[in-house]
Amino acid sequence: MSKVRQVDLGTPAVPGGATVNVVVDGMPVNVPAGTSVMRAAATAGVDIPRLCATDSLEAFGSCRLCLVEVDGRPGTPASCTTPCTPGMTVRTQTPKLEKLRRGVMELYISDHPLDCLTCPANGDCELQDMAGVVGLRDVRYGLDGANHLDGATDDSNPYFSFDDSKCIACSRCVRACSEVQGTFALTISGRGFDSRVSAGAGESFMGSECVSCGACVQACPTSTLQEKSVIELGVPTRSVKTTCAYCGVGCSFIAEMRGDEVVRMVPDKDGGANAGHSCVKGRFAWGYATHRDRQLEPMIRERITDPWRAVSWDEAISYAAQGLQRIQAEHGIGAIGGITSSRCTNEEVFLVQKMIRAAFGNNNVDTCARVCHSPTGYGLKQTFGTSAGTQDFESVDHADVVVVIGANPTDGHPVFASRLKKALRAGAELVVIDPRRIDLVRSPHVEAAEHLQLQPGTNVAIVNALAHVVVAEGLVDRAFVAERCEADSFAEWEAFIAQEENSPESTAGITGVPADAVRRAARLYATAGNAAIYYGLGVTEHSQGSTMVMGMANLAMATGNIGRTGVGVNPLRGQNNVQGSCDMGSFPHELPGYRHVSDPAVRAIFEAVWGTTIDPEPGLRIPNMFDAAIDGRYLGMFIQGEDIAQSDPNVAHVKAALGALELLVVQDLFLNETAKFAHVFLPGTSFLEKDGTFTNAERRINRVRPVMAPKSGKQEWQVACELATAMGYPMDYAQSSEIMDEIAATTPSFAGVSFARLDAEGSLQWPCNDAAPHGTRIMHVDGFVRGKGHFVDTPFVPTDERTNRKFPLILTTGRILSQYNVGAQTRRTPNVLWHHEDVVEIHEHDAETRGIRTGDSVTITSRVGETVLRAKVSDRMPQGVVYTTFHYPGSGANVVTTEYSDWATNCPEYKVTAVELAPTSRVPVTDDEMHAEHQPVAGRS
Ligand code: SF4
Ligand code: SF4
Ligand code: SF4
Ligand code: FES
Repeated sequence: MSKVRQVDLGTPAVPGGATVNVVVDGMPVNVPAGTSVMRAAATAGVDIPRLCATDSLEAFGSCRLCLVEVDGRPGTPASCTTPCTPGMTVRTQTPKLEKLRRGVMELYISDHPLDCLTCPANGDCELQDMAGVVGLRDVRYGLDGANHLDGATDDSNPYFSFDDSKCIACSRCVRACSEVQGTFALTISGRGFDSRVSAGAGESFMGSECVSCGACVQACPTSTLQEKSVIELGVPTRSVKTTCAYCGVGCSFIAEMRGDEVVRMVPDKDGGANAGHSCVKGRFAWGYATHRDRQLEPMIRERITDPWRAVSWDEAISYAAQGLQRIQAEHGIGAIGGITSSRCTNEEVFLVQKMIRAAFGNNNVDTCARVCHSPTGYGLKQTFGTSAGTQDFESVDHADVVVVIGANPTDGHPVFASRLKKALRAGAELVVIDPRRIDLVRSPHVEAAEHLQLQPGTNVAIVNALAHVVVAEGLVDRAFVAERCEADSFAEWEAFIAQEENSPESTAGITGVPADAVRRAARLYATAGNAAIYYGLGVTEHSQGSTMVMGMANLAMATGNIGRTGVGVNPLRGQNNVQGSCDMGSFPHELPGYRHVSDPAVRAIFEAVWGTTIDPEPGLRIPNMFDAAIDGRYLGMFIQGEDIAQSDPNVAHVKAALGALELLVVQDLFLNETAKFAHVFLPGTSFLEKDGTFTNAERRINRVRPVMAPKSGKQEWQVACELATAMGYPMDYAQSSEIMDEIAATTPSFAGVSFARLDAEGSLQWPCNDAAPHGTRIMHVDGFVRGKGHFVDTPFVPTDERTNRKFPLILTTGRILSQYNVGAQTRRTPNVLWHHEDVVEIHEHDAETRGIRTGDSVTITSRVGETVLRAKVSDRMPQGVVYTTFHYPGSGANVVTTEYSDWATNCPEYKVTAVELAPTSRVPVTDDEMHAEHQPVAGRS
């Protein structure tokens, strides 16, 4: 069996500093002071038997298997809970210890089913291993005494089962749930012999607070907690390291396989972003990749009302190429373009933008980052000089105050949330700025010092008020500003922000947040020591999204909270590769590395490598593409892995644009909403088939390795090559590493990146070049990338989207833990058990005045559209604000969102839509009904 068993040193590492020398079984070893004897022994290559210890959890000392003898000390201390002291001499194998350990094991085995040969964990069970290690040959106590062998099995969770009869009450699961995940769903109830694991107050796992992260399953040394996929398929026989394809945390996983079937995904302890943890999506929700809905054959049709016709790759590609060329011949070079996908690898995205620039001959390329984090790119570039977050995730461990703005990490970025909660439990303070009472505001052992529950659309007023307090109360870090920032722009900003209109008292009427709460939050942030800002789409998806990003950057610079560990301004990126798709030149005005197409020196670099000329004029942004399509000026489009007919705002407008195209080429896994308007469908690859890299929110470039061959027969980058070639611009690579080599050769921040380096170092955070050969954890340490930090005045301008008598409520949108964005992946997994339809959350008072109760169908009407959802009366909502998710096409949340957008980047204002809710007898459209709407495929049932 070649399954990778991850190295486990028994107890967690102790941070560096002073070291001590000890001798274990005659071998000298030097370890940081405070290291356990167990870990020191493992470092020296000596494995001490253990059951309750694992290096992802604090030592607990309950199983008594890891006993050792220490010269000069009485007794046999547990090595997992005994720290090394200078000069200590330890013996791990003596007749006395062996006898003691056999005695302990005998007790465990006497209360354990003897079904090893048929147990799903056979060959992968620490209890079984330890029985062998201690040389257990005989169990003197029969099974006829009191035991737990009739313990019940809890199969309620769709992904793992809990078999109480096999539990040895080691508490690793309980500690994993509290220490690693931070959910505190499990407890050990009872004492002594009666000690049993229970989820919540004796509920089933599904009925408890459990969020199905799987940390307990991973920690369990027996098959008590076991993945159902392992029970069904057997233990894995090979493994491949790869990267999660869901969110921007970018967790590293070991895909454990049998043949080309995934048995389970195990978070990689060496993963730079996740250090061995994961959420329910990455660990369990990968079944979509082999779902029967996958469309694996290329298809074409002349009109969108025709049935699809499955064709060969060659026919599909030549049909697409000829159609695109015909449109250009008849309507001009600029009449076609494309959208790259943040779900795809850097290499795939790089080639699609290259295809558009070199083969299409224009810059009509944009990406789904347009609708999420484009203001981050703009705002951070203006102020700091780089369109990316400043820190690695580990940095949050060193923060004294964390401000979370417009983000819901426990749902959207769960593994980062676990890390954040750990920092909060260790004493960091939390400020939450969000209209909703998200879980972080109050959850087990976590309570925000301040929750500024502002009205949607008033972020800029709040950040200005915070900065006003900093300036007015003398909390500016003058030394930092003088040394690191522009004097002129700071002076101008200081005068602007000091104006009375920016004071908490003046803005309270706009934001709805009491002035004293704002003052307390500002003082906390400015005087913390290390204060860090983490933010999400609740910042960017506003008409002043870019302004708000710059407002946060101003605040960080004014208080000196930038350029070291524990501080910074950090976007929590939505999609797995949204950072990468931006880095790779997916914007119509920027070539890879955020360099403007109008710069002849930059164009010359690419023109030399690509052997073509590049249009110096920026191309169309996504909303401009829609407008141009409706005007008849833009008629052909290539869409790589994005369901814009569900994800983009004002769906009616999007559909009108798609319907106006003469040729739409969609490359995707499934026949999605957008594909209803397509003439050519090119099957895509899932992350399990891809070969390339993703870049996460920390700028961390992670390898995505194929665990199986592409089910469609082609990698997506090969398809881009073939389409470009068919259009007269030959593109050819032998393997995807060559694409990364081209990226590195043309893009300074990637100069030191190659697949070989990534394989050797695990991951690299850009910039990675001669100046930073091993990448860059923290940005702007000695100076800002742009030189001096630039302050920008950020006057608050209310959005044009206003409530009125007809639309008196504000609708805001977001994600939920178990589902992902448009749900194309998660809806095709058992995750639907947690969230099978989108619901609209409403404050009790707003519900009562409209006669709405939980479970009622309601219409949501805005000035652009109407949809029907079920209501949920929720105390998370402030009065006047309603909230929903957009994971189901039937719910059509984006039918009601408007075309208002960020002034600088056109990022849609998803977070503010004036609506009215009313009870209705209509029922929400179900997923199945949406499915049934799909056009037939000729020759397929
Ligand atoms: S799956 Fe995660 S949340 Fe659920 S009990 Fe296990 S560790 Fe806790
Ligand atoms: S379920 Fe597993 S990890 Fe939890 S106490 Fe039982 S044996 Fe230990
Ligand atoms: S936190 Fe994000 S990257 Fe990590 S496992 Fe979950 S979805 Fe995947
Ligand atoms: S491993 Fe040390 S007491 Fe269990």
